[in-house]
Amino acid sequence: MPRNPRGFLGTWGLVLLVIAVLVLALLFLGSARQRGGVSATISQRVWGNVTVVPTGVSVPYARLYVLVDNNPWDSLQASWGLSIFVETPWGNVLFDTGPDPGTLAYNAKRLGINPCNVSAVVISHEHMDHVGGLPYIARHCPDVPVYVPSGISSSVLSWIKSLGLHNIRVVNTTTIVVPGIYVLPPLWGPPAEESLAINTSRGLVLLVGCSHPGVARIVKHAEQLLHERILLLMGGFHLAWAPRNEVEKIAKELVGLGVEYIAPIHCSGSLMHSILASKYPSHYIGAHVGTVVVIGDGCSIICVR
Ligand SMILES: [Fe+2]
Repeated sequence: MPRNPRGFLGTWGLVLLVIAVLVLALLFLGSARQRGGVSATISQRVWGNVTVVPTGVSVPYARLYVLVDNNPWDSLQASWGLSIFVETPWGNVLFDTGPDPGTLAYNAKRLGINPCNVSAVVISHEHMDHVGGLPYIARHCPDVPVYVPSGISSSVLSWIKSLGLHNIRVVNTTTIVVPGIYVLPPLWGPPAEESLAINTSRGLVLLVGCSHPGVARIVKHAEQLLHERILLLMGGFHLAWAPRNEVEKIAKELVGLGVEYIAPIHCSGSLMHSILASKYPSHYIGAHVGTVVVIGDGCSIICVR
């Protein structure tokens, strides 16, 4: 039977039409993704309680405000504890909350910071000098996600819930809280403690609460997870009661691990300040309550004020 040329052309025409539609659809999706750029990534990742492998996303700049610290400055309240406000163009994070709501509120107001203007509150570990300001968050912004380390004791977790915070997220692996900002999986001290990594355009910033698992161990953990050396290490190193030889050993180890700038505060101890200042002055940042560290944003690398 002779083949019907119109039918033959019709079948192949249909196949070609389907292929053309698929190619056009792929081209359109590709260009849309390119146009979306960073904002597309943000909309997919922000509020991520999902645990994901970090990407190459970095924040153009970050400002770190030491809201609570026991190293005094000016007329700010110096209470034993730690809280650092992280400001970036893609979202802010409050890292720890200090020992009480009053110190957090007072210093934040003096520094022109709203502790509720955040995408996340990250709690390094369960000790009261880090969680004690949570009633402020519960009172003023109870919907903000609060990230706590897996391994936190049930009694402290119950207390946090009893404050009225209803968006508590338990971290057990690397977790994006804002594009370019990661909570790292906790290490056991005791207690369980998690750290915050900020991938800036100038390099990696690592914030530590009290370093109960060991500050050098936390740095190694971060460098292994994120495949990058640390530009700035800031926070409590838990060496306030350590003998000189141990503090010297750890300072040397941190420099040897490639940490470019080191800002010990809170429980790091005065020995760590003096050893860094005398032996490794190019690495040392002397910080205290009220210190603002800027990474990028007009600074070639880091500015301190
Ligand atoms: Fe502490």
